[in-house]
Amino acid sequence: MAAVAAAQKNREMFAIKKSYSIENGYPARRRSLVDDARFETLVVKQTKQTVLDEARQRANDSSVEHEIEYDEKATQKPEQQNDDDTGLTEEEIVLANAIAEGPEAERAIQRAALILRLREGMNSLSRVLKAIEKYQGAVVHLETRPNKKENGQLDALIKIDMARSNLLQLIKNLRQSGTLEHITLLDDCNHLMTKYEPDLDMNHPGFSDKEYRERRKEIAEIAFAYKYGDPVPYIEYTETENKTWNAVFTTVLDLMPKHACAEYRRVFKLLVEEGLFNATGIPQLEDMSSFMKKCTGFTLRPAAGLLTARDFLASLAFRIFQSTQYIRHTKTPFHTPEPDCIHEILGHMPLLADPSFAQFSQEIGLASLGASDEEIEKLSTIYWFTVEFGLCKEAGETKVYGAGLLSAYGELLHALSDKPEHRPFDPATTAIQPYQDQEYQPVYYVAESIDDMKDKFRRWVSQMSRPFEVRFNPHTQRVEVLDSVEKLDSLVHQLNTELLHLSNAINKMKTNEVE
Ligand SMILES: [Fe+2]
Repeated sequence: MAAVAAAQKNREMFAIKKSYSIENGYPARRRSLVDDARFETLVVKQTKQTVLDEARQRANDSSVEHEIEYDEKATQKPEQQNDDDTGLTEEEIVLANAIAEGPEAERAIQRAALILRLREGMNSLSRVLKAIEKYQGAVVHLETRPNKKENGQLDALIKIDMARSNLLQLIKNLRQSGTLEHITLLDDCNHLMTKYEPDLDMNHPGFSDKEYRERRKEIAEIAFAYKYGDPVPYIEYTETENKTWNAVFTTVLDLMPKHACAEYRRVFKLLVEEGLFNATGIPQLEDMSSFMKKCTGFTLRPAAGLLTARDFLASLAFRIFQSTQYIRHTKTPFHTPEPDCIHEILGHMPLLADPSFAQFSQEIGLASLGASDEEIEKLSTIYWFTVEFGLCKEAGETKVYGAGLLSAYGELLHALSDKPEHRPFDPATTAIQPYQDQEYQPVYYVAESIDDMKDKFRRWVSQMSRPFEVRFNPHTQRVEVLDSVEKLDSLVHQLNTELLHLSNAINKMKTNEVE
């Protein structure tokens, strides 16, 4: 079930309006996806409390029948929604609050009225009824009526009696499936910066450099104006900026042959051969994007800076990597408190052009769709210890595949030394490993191989709370929720066709061998 309108309303309601400065409760000076996710959870909790206080004032008696409206498979944007759409989140908060009063309150039967837009007609209705049955609800009234706004669409009013805790789960499950459905919705991602970071943080190397701050602003504006499908605008990098790139590039060039994993070395060589990687100038995101598209279908979109962890991970589901385009301050070529384009280009892009690693990155993204805040934190932690700081085995040696290490030689040498602890990659324990944000990590996770890591991750993800499975359809650029026999049927048909091609290819090769 999708409730995109409700999810969008939720995103809008809880959009982070605070900047990522320590004064606003950001937990660390160094930026990371893990801290982004934690910050987001914290701010969402605070906002929910405010919404809850307002809801309490309005609802004098929590035992009254709650009317909950949501839109099945809605695709309209928030501004097109009914003004009187009550959404779901507030209801969830009121319910959670009532449940928290004690075990008796948790088991108490609550009557609720669900108003559903049946985008897929009776199929939608049947799925909702199955969900109600699963949560042991009793339907006391059911009626359908034509939707006022869309001809041919039906709304259903379903009144149910259900234990409060189950009702909360039902609503969450209905809402959780309302995620980003189409690639163009990435244009609505929440940019988290309310101001530019060098302006906010006194310890930022660019804090006292007016020219640098202006440059950051100029480059950020490109990202704010960017829409899906546009080419990424070229940036004329200055001599100073290219010099900074040169310093880092030549260091990576030195260290990479001995320490980087085979996948990274292979693509790095290709990038040099294509003329995209050279010591003289910063590659343009548009050129890198075209290269990656040819290799794995991954493309880039410019990001002004930080996005919410949820939005960043969701982009990966669409094989889109949100990349910054500005460069670190020239004063500190080997250190940056936040990701910059040197980190993105030298650290991430070679591996996103490797088919197996690209698949792993997309798997993390797909797992994030519809995940709870706690699960987003776990996924961000896994992302941190793999995509950013991962190590892997290669012919008996430990190599580096993490972008945070490949673009920072100090920590790379530390990670491969005998100082930190090396543990085998295991998603269940990696997901809850505390992250060190002030110094180098004391613990790194070592994967047997990227394929092995992908398999372990898939098994772990299958135990997450999401009650549905999703897949990305590259033809339509849509994430599909696999929740109906029709969709599964169509997928099986597609796979059968692919298998037929494979089997024909094998037969032809065999015939050629005999001849
Ligand atoms: Fe990164």
